[in-house]
Amino acid sequence: MADEEKILKLQEIIDRSERIVFFTGAGVSTESGIPDFRSPDGLYNQKYSVPPETMLSHSYYMSNPREFYKFYRDKMLCLEAEPNKAHRKIYELEKAGKVLGIVTQNIDGLHTKAGCSKVYELHGSVYRNYCRKCGKLYRPEYIKETQGVPKCLCGGIIKPDVVLYEESLNDETVENAVNAIENADCLIVAGTSLTVYPAAGMIRYFKGESIVLINRDKTPVDSAADLVIHDKAGEVLDKIKVNV
Ligand code: APR
Repeated sequence: MADEEKILKLQEIIDRSERIVFFTGAGVSTESGIPDFRSPDGLYNQKYSVPPETMLSHSYYMSNPREFYKFYRDKMLCLEAEPNKAHRKIYELEKAGKVLGIVTQNIDGLHTKAGCSKVYELHGSVYRNYCRKCGKLYRPEYIKETQGVPKCLCGGIIKPDVVLYEESLNDETVENAVNAIENADCLIVAGTSLTVYPAAGMIRYFKGESIVLINRDKTPVDSAADLVIHDKAGEVLDKIKVNV
């Protein structure tokens, strides 16, 4: 099917859907200048003395907090990034009442920054940071502006509210995300390699009519999708009109 035909089919699916859930990954933020993880130019293919997947683990955060925070400030705190065409179109669809929820693996906060309200951040957000001793909340700027291991006024160590490897997802967030997926009539998976569990496994709860995959590269779910578009999510979604 030629690209134009695929866009027409996507438009048709979106027009007839009323309870769309978007399931997004790092690929929807690359057009905002934030590298993804597993593409050839992704974070996990950049050379470090310690593999990034190791640095982004709970045990590394606990045993090497100074090195963790150096990497985290350099690579994960992208506070200046702006929503791109993908985030903006998803917001327009939500504003038109067609979106049941946005389930995202991203911690960059760009869906929220675009104006979306029904965002389920499976892996947390760099915008939430808390003291591990007294629970006091801190804005991301505090992490960005400090050096070394950020400390609370009480002396405790501050932790970003992001799910590191070896950590579990937030039960309430998972429950809300699964509930949205179970009640969706259309699931649009965008910008994810669908290789990290339990997040990737959540799309099996979808029981609705149409699964759409918008991903630059192939994914394990391509064969199960009703429509697969291997292209840039921002470019594709920008071509969609919001008809209510
Ligand atoms: N448009 C569409 N797809 C894109 C774009 C784009 N502009 N840019 C990249 N992609 C695709 C890539 O082809 C790739 O398949 O997005 C996918 C990104 O995959 P990953 O880098 O594996 O990111 P993600 O799936 O979000 O990773 C899941 O892994 O390390 C953990 O916690 C981390 O949340 C992350 C999780």
